[in-house]
Amino acid sequence: MDQNQDPATEDQIELLFPIPLMRSPQLLSSELCEAAIAAIRADKVETNLRSEQLFHTTIANPLHSNLFQEIAALAMPKLVDFGFMLFGERLNWTVKEMWTNMLEPGGSQAMHSHANSFISGVFYLTPSHPGSRTMFIRPPGGFEYSFRHHTREAALGPFNAGKYMVPVTEPGDLVLFPSYLYHEVPKNQGDQRITIAFNAIPDRLNCWGYEIKFSA
Ligand SMILES: [Fe+2]
Repeated sequence: MDQNQDPATEDQIELLFPIPLMRSPQLLSSELCEAAIAAIRADKVETNLRSEQLFHTTIANPLHSNLFQEIAALAMPKLVDFGFMLFGERLNWTVKEMWTNMLEPGGSQAMHSHANSFISGVFYLTPSHPGSRTMFIRPPGGFEYSFRHHTREAALGPFNAGKYMVPVTEPGDLVLFPSYLYHEVPKNQGDQRITIAFNAIPDRLNCWGYEIKFSA
């Protein structure tokens, strides 16, 4: 852009129909992270169906554990804010399920989205290796060109990138995203990586009187 250009005549770029993703740094205290890590490491584990280095625990139903209830409660105002961006109103949100992910060195998480949910979130409890950050994938299909221009020289930005990798996360960080958005975790090149994931729903949605109610 020409630095001498009159601001009144500068080109304007509009971000049409963007997908929001919210990052809330340091939402969990280090004490809460450590307590959650200890509870998760002490629990029974189940192996993920697609990666033998990815384990889930069974404790994390927020309705059954004070610790996880406390963590879910911290997400609640963020869900209301994020829900406002999606639906334009401060709705009543419920975290309807929570689960834990223990990604051992060499493990990965295959591309997936979360069904029967509106907002999903991830709490990061341990540091993640920079190569194993959560990766969000541009919705496949749609109405875009079927042509691509991806070369070593081509600049990638929000209008042409196929993937978005979250910035390096620290223990205690939360990321919220619309549940339909596909995501994955590349092969873990670092130490064990522990996260808590959850799904949330509003109590109702109303389209000009055509209302639908949800309950967990
Ligand atoms: Fe997920």
